[in-house]
Amino acid sequence: MLKHGNMWPVSLKGGVMLLMLMVLNVSGTFVGINVGTAISNLPSASDIVSILKEKKIQHVRLLDSDHQMLSALANTGIEVVVGVPNDQLLRVGQSRSTAADWINKNVAAYIPATNITYIAVGNEVLTTVPNAALVLVPALQFLQSALLAANLNTQVKISSPHSTDMISKPFPPSTATFNSTWSSIMSQYLQFLNNTGSPFMLNAQPYYDYVKGQGVFPLEYALFRSLNPDSQIADPNTNLFYTNMFDAMVDATYNSMQAMNFTGIPVMVTASGWPWHGAQNEKAANVDNALAYNTNLIRHVLNNSGTPGQPNTQVSTYIFELFNEDLRVGPVSEKNWGIMFPNATTVYSLTFEDMATTNTDSPALRGKFCVAISSAPHSALKQSLDWACGPGSANCSAIQPGQSCYKSDDIVAVASYAFNDYYHRTQESGGTCSFNSTAMVTSTDPTLAPMAAVVVQLLGPQAQTILLHKFNRAG
Ligand SMILES: *[C@@H]1O[C@H](CO)[C@@H](O)[C@H](O)[C@H]1NC(C)=O
Ligand SMILES: *[C@@H]1O[C@H](CO)[C@@H](O)[C@H](O)[C@H]1NC(C)=O
Ligand SMILES: *[C@@H]1O[C@H](CO)[C@@H](O)[C@H](O)[C@H]1NC(C)=O
Ligand SMILES: *[C@@H]1O[C@H](CO)[C@@H](O)[C@H](O)[C@H]1NC(C)=O
Ligand SMILES: *[C@@H]1O[C@H](CO)[C@@H](O)[C@H](O)[C@H]1NC(C)=O
Ligand SMILES: *[C@@H]1O[C@H](CO)[C@@H](O)[C@H](O)[C@H]1NC(C)=O
Ligand SMILES: *[C@@H]1O[C@H](CO)[C@@H](O)[C@H](O)[C@H]1NC(C)=O
Ligand SMILES: *[C@@H]1O[C@H](CO)[C@@H](O)[C@H](O)[C@H]1NC(C)=O
Repeated sequence: MLKHGNMWPVSLKGGVMLLMLMVLNVSGTFVGINVGTAISNLPSASDIVSILKEKKIQHVRLLDSDHQMLSALANTGIEVVVGVPNDQLLRVGQSRSTAADWINKNVAAYIPATNITYIAVGNEVLTTVPNAALVLVPALQFLQSALLAANLNTQVKISSPHSTDMISKPFPPSTATFNSTWSSIMSQYLQFLNNTGSPFMLNAQPYYDYVKGQGVFPLEYALFRSLNPDSQIADPNTNLFYTNMFDAMVDATYNSMQAMNFTGIPVMVTASGWPWHGAQNEKAANVDNALAYNTNLIRHVLNNSGTPGQPNTQVSTYIFELFNEDLRVGPVSEKNWGIMFPNATTVYSLTFEDMATTNTDSPALRGKFCVAISSAPHSALKQSLDWACGPGSANCSAIQPGQSCYKSDDIVAVASYAFNDYYHRTQESGGTCSFNSTAMVTSTDPTLAPMAAVVVQLLGPQAQTILLHKFNRAG
């Protein structure tokens, strides 16, 4: 079952990774953020840029080409995706000179002070404004010619974001194909990307598929928290295991491109996030899930791991989104994808300090501990441990070789540490203390020395090690 055999020891680099939030990692993979502006009290451009700087965000995607924003972003080092909004697409795609004018006014005029690196032409055109479908590729081509003429074609890449709704049957990823209604346009679009060295822009929103699935997908799968090895989702054709829906969406996109004979085009995720608030009937839209999704997404992207299908291809991603947009149409949740209110108050914080101390313990969990069962076979414990520290995303840094709680000869203690961390992080969203029957919950606080004896009785002498660690840490 378990496909993650050599995962122990792993280095989760928790703190370090979080410090690099929104920043380039070693390989050039990055996490940026969308800045939507359908807001009644929109902060000024300079205020928005101050927020970006304060949060050390290095990559932003604008949904348009607002000139005040482009000016405010000058000389900040921030890399910028500008957008051709859907309502400008018809004009740009119907006239070569309008396209050239667009490039001059919105791109050339701001480079090099403002580091514009991509133009996102339209947004989910084929699925949301199909009447503009026929001008999509001409728009890309006209804009590209204008970039060439301005000698900006190496600095700026052009693409167009698509929804995962473009993929008719996304699961299993190996057999995914684009909706054949759009074959001819997709083929021209992919040819354009292949010729210009541009990425496939994908808006990947597990939230929608989770909600639409009505229980088909476990919440943990949507939130990058696959519950246990038995619930991992396998692609029957490739035997690849998917621990999260995001990877499955990206692989479905690669395979859909491959079905059209395009193999070298990278995927860039132009929008991915989770709403933190919704109406009565939108229960999945809550702060816990939004924090978990975005935290795990950032970790996942910056971990250099690629997808099961393309393990060596990293997927840079723009979080959706910086501000709540109260003017967006649709259900309550649509207005609440932001990590901040427009008045610059954070809804929930994605900064290092807050993530390091994120405590998802509900009151009900206080005084409950998930520990390894000492009589479980060590091979089974090791499998569960590998899983907890790998796909389970437990914080295992303290039990790495050389760290404070590492015990090369005490798998029960080490596994207990990992299981308990996993359980306390995930219990709110359905995480359990089972680990293939190698773990159990105890209500005895192992950090209280007098009561430790009870647990030792339950677990055997090996438990002492971890109790001591807990005690030392608490003291
Ligand atoms: C703009 O971003 C590109 C891509 O990361 C980088 O190579 C370049 O140095 C940046 N330019 C400026 C002026 O900062
Ligand atoms: C493909 O796209 C067409 C046109 O938008 C739509 O009517 C149809 O339902 C889509 N098919 C699938 C399988 O999504
Ligand atoms: C994509 O571009 C590469 C060269 O960069 C070329 O070898 C390949 O044939 C192209 N693929 C298609 C389907 O045009
Ligand atoms: C779960 O336990 C069973 C029986 O002990 C074992 O055969 C199986 O491989 C385990 N599965 C995982 C994923 O650890
Ligand atoms: C992809 O290439 C194969 C082999 O050359 C060919 O048979 C097939 O028709 C091509 N598919 C498309 C969608 O062009
Ligand atoms: C910012 O806006 C939110 C939501 O409207 C509100 O709850 C909060 O009190 C505001 N904070 C400040 C400092 O005005
Ligand atoms: C992981 O654990 C280490 C050691 O206990 C701690 O320093 C670090 O802040 C933790 N990281 C997270 C993300 O909780
Ligand atoms: C990080 O990447 C490694 C492989 O590079 C993988 O084994 C590990 O599971 C990943 N960790 C997380 C938390 O995704």
